[in-house]
Amino acid sequence: MATLAPQPQAAQAADPLDVSRAELYRDDTWHAPFREIRARGGIHRTEDSDFGPYWSIASYKPLVHVESLPELFSSEAGGITLADFKEGTDVKMPMFIAMDRPKHTGQRRTVAPAFTPSEMARMTDDIRRRTAEILDGLPIGTTFDWVDRVSIELTTQMLAILFDFPWEERRKLTFWSDWAGDIELVKNEELRQQRLVHMFECGSYFKRLWDAKIDKPPTPDLISMMIHSDAMAEMDQYEFIGNLILLIVGGNDTTRSSMTAYALGLDQFPDERAKLEADPSLIPNAVQEIIRWQTPLSHMRRTATADTELDGHAIKAGEKLALWYVSANRDESVFEDADAIRIERPNARRHLAFGHGIHRCVGARLAELQISILLEEMGKRRLRANVAGAPERVAACFVHGYRKLPVELSRY
Ligand code: HEM
Repeated sequence: MATLAPQPQAAQAADPLDVSRAELYRDDTWHAPFREIRARGGIHRTEDSDFGPYWSIASYKPLVHVESLPELFSSEAGGITLADFKEGTDVKMPMFIAMDRPKHTGQRRTVAPAFTPSEMARMTDDIRRRTAEILDGLPIGTTFDWVDRVSIELTTQMLAILFDFPWEERRKLTFWSDWAGDIELVKNEELRQQRLVHMFECGSYFKRLWDAKIDKPPTPDLISMMIHSDAMAEMDQYEFIGNLILLIVGGNDTTRSSMTAYALGLDQFPDERAKLEADPSLIPNAVQEIIRWQTPLSHMRRTATADTELDGHAIKAGEKLALWYVSANRDESVFEDADAIRIERPNARRHLAFGHGIHRCVGARLAELQISILLEEMGKRRLRANVAGAPERVAACFVHGYRKLPVELSRY
């Protein structure tokens, strides 16, 4: 008698609202599924994804609600991205972005003094000078990659100054940051191993920088400021290095993507660009609007610490939630005509690209300063960035950015 072959299990239909799929960001097709989730109330559960089951929080109001309850929705319990920690191929780096209170409070205090308004004022001339040098070295009327020559160069120079990092080696910061922020590696064991090697290399590099400053008088850079701060008692050496890596990752892709969004976004909305070119006093609001429109980190993750209810959805302890800033910043109930750049948008400042609550981005002022100066210096030179080809986007649901953007400069 013929034996019956086991019937293949009916494959579970893929969830069309699984917004963690990398291709949505690579192809810039994330808008429709998020619009659908927002239309359904902004909360959706995906049962099966590359990152396992998760809740999407995609509208403004519930996102702010979750971020306002850091005890119930923890940053520490499962980390800050949808990718779960994997023993053996991931480095457990202590960072205050992935800590809850009270530890988070103490460690954040060690770096916060580097981002005060007076520190920003102190850094302004230096940032302006370096921005000017970069812009003055760019060709007019010839296509070049804006990401490489402007966005990456400006952000890495800034971080090198901030950390007093060896100048000639500053592109290492970009390299490490790109590896650290790539959560899609969850799908590839070999690349995950490679990342581990690079992260150890990064850790030992920063350990050398720390060793060189530990017994020396204070200097005005972040490493020395942290070593000499009162709150340093809150950190051991591993935490110190973990937090330095957090700062390079936090400050790198994010500011870089915003600078690229400036060139790309205003090219898509030429009437808005014309307004900005005619009136530089619009720059501060335009900076907020560009950051909103881009939203350089698509999500941060939280993990529920207890069973709870969110707008009628039963969330169980241990379940993970993705807070989709990229979608909340397009929430039509808060931002009219949300997909458009409107440099005079009256509530552009309400964007959630920096998060909300106790973890709100500590480097926000520095990012805003760098982007403002870029816009000001472009304006002083009457330079316009004309997009000369399709952008190459990062294929990932965490870092929301660009690998390349061909641009040609003209004068207006
Ligand atoms: C936290 C976005 C620039 C350092 C965050 C968070 C977001 C974010 C979404 C997490 C908020 C949360 O979990 O609720 C951005 C964007 C930037 C930017 C969009 C640029 C446009 C920077 C810069 C630095 C930086 C320039 C430093 C050099 C940090 C750090 C945290 C953080 C250290 C952790 C704060 C905490 O947990 O208390 N950022 N960031 N970021 N960011 Fe930024």
